[in-house]
Amino acid sequence: MTTTLAIIGGTGLTRMDGLTVTRREMVKTPYGAPSSPIVFGELAGRPVAFLARHGSTHRIPPHRVNYCANLWALNSVGVERIVAVGAVGGIRKDCVVGSIVVPDQIIDYTHGRESTFFDGGEDPVEHIDFSYPYNEPLRQALINSARKVGDIPVIDEGVYGATQGPRLETAAEIRRMASDGCTIVGMTGMPEASLAAELGMAYACCGVVINPAAGTDNKPVDTDALPDAITAAMDNARSVLTHALQTEI
Ligand code: HPA
Repeated sequence: MTTTLAIIGGTGLTRMDGLTVTRREMVKTPYGAPSSPIVFGELAGRPVAFLARHGSTHRIPPHRVNYCANLWALNSVGVERIVAVGAVGGIRKDCVVGSIVVPDQIIDYTHGRESTFFDGGEDPVEHIDFSYPYNEPLRQALINSARKVGDIPVIDEGVYGATQGPRLETAAEIRRMASDGCTIVGMTGMPEASLAAELGMAYACCGVVINPAAGTDNKPVDTDALPDAITAAMDNARSVLTHALQTEI
């Protein structure tokens, strides 16, 4: 049976507990090596593929992730739909630590990343429509599941501001992003989403808030608190994904 659904795991989600692994495949791509082998298996009785965005041992920083290879690899094995999990900072006040935000828009502040499959060469350039970057049925599946799982605060819309990293932002950068309309900030949302769109794959983001963004309440980001926040928040994400697979997707 072809596995058509994939999870891309980010910081704190390099393995998918509960996944019964059937095989691993390191796909060769014209863009170089993907971050990790694609792990095929079953989660909640459903076939699913899993890719660790930062590598199996979490060594690849956001600006060095080979997004082209990752998306190409998933597409080449027959994946049609992707749920991308990512740790984010909360910019809007209601995006408290531990909440799950399922954004409906993106603003891209990254630079210097390989960000398109239409990069000159033989094929004619195609300007894909990217007005609504996230797939609505996948978004709704995540939202419904997150609402049903325990007491997780769920935010069902918002703008993902993708920054370059790996440093966190300045307070002024976050103020500017807030005035641009950003709800959350993360480092991996782009070009992952637009590459998925270029390949015609459905893509949604499960943003997991692990810290208030820089300068919230005039405070710096408490980086010492991040590891524990990531562990707790990714437990939430895992429950949401498992529930979504059981019931929604
Ligand atoms: N900024 C950017 N990326 C992040 C943050 C943040 O505050 N938290 C988790 N990923």
